[in-house]
Order: sequence, then C-alpha cells, then structure tokens
Amino acid sequence: RRMAMVAALVSVLACSPADGPLPGDEAPAAADQRAGAPGIGDPDFPKDGNGGYDVAHYDLVVDYVPATKRLTGVTTIKAAATQELSRFNLDLAGLDVREVAVDGSPARFGRQGDELTVRPAKTIADRAKFTVKVSYSGTPKPRKDSANLGTYGFVPTSDGAFVASEPNGSKTWFPNNDHPSDKATYDFTITVPAGVTALANGELVGAPATKGGTTTFRWRERHPMASYLATATLGKFDLRQGTTASGIPNLAATDPRFKSTLDKLYTVSAEVTDYWSTVFGPYPFSSTGGVVDDYSAGYALENQTKPLYGGFDPDETIIAHELAHQWFGNSLTIRRWKDLWLNEGFATYAEWLWAEHKGRKTTEATFAELLKRPATDPMWSYPPGRAKPDDLFNQSVYTRGGMTLHALRKAVGDATFFTLLRTWAADHRYGHVTTDQFIDLAERLSGKDLTALFDAWLYQPRRPA
Ligand code: ARG
Ligand code: ZN
Repeated sequence: RRMAMVAALVSVLACSPADGPLPGDEAPAAADQRAGAPGIGDPDFPKDGNGGYDVAHYDLVVDYVPATKRLTGVTTIKAAATQELSRFNLDLAGLDVREVAVDGSPARFGRQGDELTVRPAKTIADRAKFTVKVSYSGTPKPRKDSANLGTYGFVPTSDGAFVASEPNGSKTWFPNNDHPSDKATYDFTITVPAGVTALANGELVGAPATKGGTTTFRWRERHPMASYLATATLGKFDLRQGTTASGIPNLAATDPRFKSTLDKLYTVSAEVTDYWSTVFGPYPFSSTGGVVDDYSAGYALENQTKPLYGGFDPDETIIAHELAHQWFGNSLTIRRWKDLWLNEGFATYAEWLWAEHKGRKTTEATFAELLKRPATDPMWSYPPGRAKPDDLFNQSVYTRGGMTLHALRKAVGDATFFTLLRTWAADHRYGHVTTDQFIDLAERLSGKDLTALFDAWLYQPRRPA
C-alpha cells in the first residue's frame, strides 16, 4: 500500500520516559527466539496482527470530545502467550502512549510505524495468561491508504465519529492485535459530552450515566469479534429499540439528517435478521440493528450486531447484505484476507436470495444476466478466490463470488446447497474458516468432486465455460 511506505518514513520512536527504542537490546527482534513476531502471518498484510499471543478480551475505556477531536483511552487486554515472550507487539497507528503495564508492572515500550513493542519486566512463559494495560491519548487519524478503500478507521465527524475499520483500521483508535485471525470479546466504556450518543457492539450494560456534563455508555459484546468489526460510533442519534418478531433485541439509530429512514431501518433489519435465521440457521449474536451516520463513506460495514451505513439511506438490498455478514464474516471469520469471497460472495448471494424471497427476481435470472457480461469484463480476469491486497474489495470478490455459490447450487441441487449453508454456519460458529474447508464440506455433503467447478469459478482469470 502507498501509505505503508509513508508510515515507515514518518515513524518515530515514542518519547515518554519509560520507553525509547527498547534501549539495551542486545539483539534485534528477529534474532531473539522469545520475541513475538510483528505480524500474525498473513503474507498479504505482513505487519497486521502480531505473533506469540492470542487475545481473549479487550476492555476499552474511551473518552472523546468531538469539539477538540481528542481521544483519551485505556485499553486492557487479556491474552494467552503461545510461546515464551521476552517482548511482543501490539498494533497502534498514531496517538501517544503514556504508559504500558503487564500484569500490573510497568513495562518498557517503543513505537515504530504502526507497531507498539512492549517489553515486560519479566519474560512471559509459554501458555501463560497475561494482562496488558495501555494508557494513551491523541487525535485519531483515519486511514486513506488506497483509493478503493476510501477513508476508514476512526473518522471524526462534526458531532462525533464514524468508526468502520475493515480491513485494518481498528489500530487508529485502540492498541490491539489487528487481524481477523485473532477474535476476542469486548467491553466498552465510552464517555462523551452530554447529548452525544455512543454506539458500540453488543448490548448496553446498565443505563447511560450523565454527570458533570458528560455521559458514559457501557456496551458489551460477549461473542468473539474481529477487530475490524469493533465500533464506537458517536454523535447525535435518534433511536428506536425493541425486538424482532422472533424476539431478538433490535436497535436502529439514525443521524438527525436521516431521521426519515429510522423506522424503515428498524423494521427491515428486524425482518431480515429473522429471515436469515430461517435460511442460515440461528442468529449468532445477542442483538441486531443498524446505524446510519452522517458521514458519506461510500460504503457500509457489517459492524458486529450494528451494521453501519455511511451517509446514505440504506435500501433492503444492502441491509440484507450487511446482516448476512453477521453469519458470514462475523460469526465465521476468515483466517486470511485472500479468502474474502467467503464474506463478500456470500453476502452478495444473500442480496440475490432476498430479491428471490421477495418475488422480485430469481437468483437464476440474476446469475444468467451476469453471465452475459462480455469476456472482456474485468470481473472475469480477477479470480475472486484470491483477493488481492491492493484491490481487496474488487467487484469480482462480491459478484463473481456470489456467482460461484449459484454455480455450486446448480451443481449440487437446492436441498444439498441450503443444508451446506446451514452446516457451514453451524460447524464454524464463532470460529475461523478457509476456502479449502468450504470446498471440502461441499464435496462431503454432495458426494461430488467439485474441484473443476471451484477452480473455474474461484481461481481462473477468465469467464467459466
Ligand atoms: N465489508 C463491507 C461491505 O460489506 C465493505 C467494507 C470496505 N472497507 C472499506 N474501507 N472501504 O461491503
Ligand atoms: Zn459486504
């Protein structure tokens, strides 16, 4: 990415008394077998995430003042070491770190680019559980590192913030292991000026408390969540709360500019959540809903339990898409970004299923129409089974990914296909998935050799015959 080089150039070592370039390092990190790796091992995003530990829980305390764009935070991370650790990294972009403690003892730390390196006073034993507490503050800078991703991360708005971090923007607002292959549960304690609403994942814990001109909101996401789905979207919002027909708590929130869409957002989100529960299996989380903010992001994001729509009035199609991601993407999470079609192809196919359900257009008609695109259409030269790091969200990952599922459905028949979708969602609920696992399951349930079908649809740079 373009920004990656710039970030490396402007990287500075942090300057608080307790830190520095980890002075006294007798050997560079690479030579120390006990140093956690600066990346989690995704070859397409070598610095995203970190090696040597697995996060179980994030406790985020965030104070934000929209008028000054200043964020003050304390992140407490509960993790387990997966090797002996003399030092380890977190991902954090910008912001000033004041203090780091490991298991209650001050730790030395250094900054380089988006890496925060922590050296605990005592080496952490392999498999030991440990706690890291990072106190930090500053003005979050959203990312704009490639044209096709737009602006993402923590994006300040006039009344608060729009927080959508896919693929790797959560490091713009809290230190974390910023890669989907390490999911964790989250507690949020967010303090904002009175009159501002803080919307995070999961459900409210107690009523928001206002005192001294500020309000504190506590939210809890008790199911594992990828860092890119974490949100603290802040601003003036109108809210509608209740439950879906099947009893799932539902919360819709709209910026005052989009108040006219609040009821539709609420009603359609409820209906879609309940319908997908009959198609894909039980809803994986404890609440559903949606948020429309006044920031024109040019995209929506399936933030866990609360999809976020960036400055537009969402129609049924996109609501169907973002809520399908609660199963495909959020409950079942990709281990490597190259498998992104397992998110976007499935959510796009869900759009077509929704149109079919509503009697507007059959999936077969959608598929047949797309198949007519000329051989020169760029979709045919981009194999969706291998998303490219510099063009991750290419239309092919969505559309040709969705077509792959329809081609599969035609090959195995409706009964097997829908059993496959439900079995897939059930077998890997709250877990991680790869394309090979999906192909294996499809072959097992259908009893067919599907190598040629998946190869033509996912991996060849041409239109399948
Ligand atoms: N996952 C989102 C969707 O459902 C796309 C997010 C794209 N991210 C970005 N930074 N533009 O389509
Ligand atoms: Zn999507």
